[in-house]
Amino acid sequence: MLIHSSSNGFNHGCPGQITPEPVYRARRELIGAMTGIAAGAALTGWAGRAAFAQATAPGGAKRLLGVVRSAVPGALSMDQPTDIKDATSYNNFYEFGTDKADPARTAGALKTSPWTVQVDGLVAKPGRFAIEDLLKLSALEERIYRLRCVEGWSMVIPWVGYSLANLIKRVQPLGSAKFVEFVTLADPATMPGVRSRVLDWPYVEGLRLDEAMHPLTLLAFGMYGAVLPNQNGAPLRLVVPWKYGFKSSKSLVRIRFTDQQPPTAWNKAAAHEYGFYSNVNPQVDHPRWSQGSERRIGEDGLFARKRKTLLFNGYEAQVGQLYAGMDLKKFF
Ligand code: MTE
Repeated sequence: MLIHSSSNGFNHGCPGQITPEPVYRARRELIGAMTGIAAGAALTGWAGRAAFAQATAPGGAKRLLGVVRSAVPGALSMDQPTDIKDATSYNNFYEFGTDKADPARTAGALKTSPWTVQVDGLVAKPGRFAIEDLLKLSALEERIYRLRCVEGWSMVIPWVGYSLANLIKRVQPLGSAKFVEFVTLADPATMPGVRSRVLDWPYVEGLRLDEAMHPLTLLAFGMYGAVLPNQNGAPLRLVVPWKYGFKSSKSLVRIRFTDQQPPTAWNKAAAHEYGFYSNVNPQVDHPRWSQGSERRIGEDGLFARKRKTLLFNGYEAQVGQLYAGMDLKKFF
């Protein structure tokens, strides 16, 4: 089962730190600079796709250039982004260990180049895509999403990527395709966690095809303007902002279209605790804790004031229609 972190608090040594103002301002300036670059790219008719480039920023992170601000409704949360230090050091990536600090400590061994993603199953145009080609498939957008973990904490992360729908359209799903399965790398040589039996590896997640096609469903390549750090799911991951964080699988190697609901890692481990849908819902408690509120990482101290959790993580206007007429308690 997922470790309920809010009971044991932070374990990476920086509890409840408020984002320092200069850091916050610098980040806003970076975002502004990215928007400027984006405007330039737009003027050249987004030949920018070809002009996609990386530059090494101080500190070694590869910056993603030519990023446009997303125009997808709901994609730009006004909440203050989480300090990058917290977002990159307080992680769930069980392939690298179950402690929140493990991924940042051990994921450096993950080799993210070369990297390919197999896209297959019930599609007319299956293929194996190199990461370089995926980066060029559509304009890279900045999206600021709330991330709500099933454990009861949340963050706000500026991702860089594009709607997964762009890739889905490329491979042309057949009429019989109803679900999409997402498979993470499981490499015992570089991922010490897969030697443990905490989950049935590889980490598999799934969505209904219409959920996968929703414009908010993001294929992310970066965060905070730079390529994804390994611990956050490099070189590409899924981000589904209205579902609990575990639906957003990291370091994807395969995307498969099926006519059956795929068996998923957490659901197989504890079906009564982790449903296939796992839409954020304050009315449906986890059997072992309430989902009515959440602790925003970095916002408060260890004994944080709790924020109210919102239905569909606050994305109800955008995604509520996907579940019209469904019993959300039954299909949790
Ligand atoms: N993907 C894989 N492959 N393995 C994991 O353990 N953890 C999930 C999700 N994706 C996980 C995963 C959970 S529980 C959460 S909350 C988010 O990743 C955390 O993403 P972050 O560490 O980038 O904040």
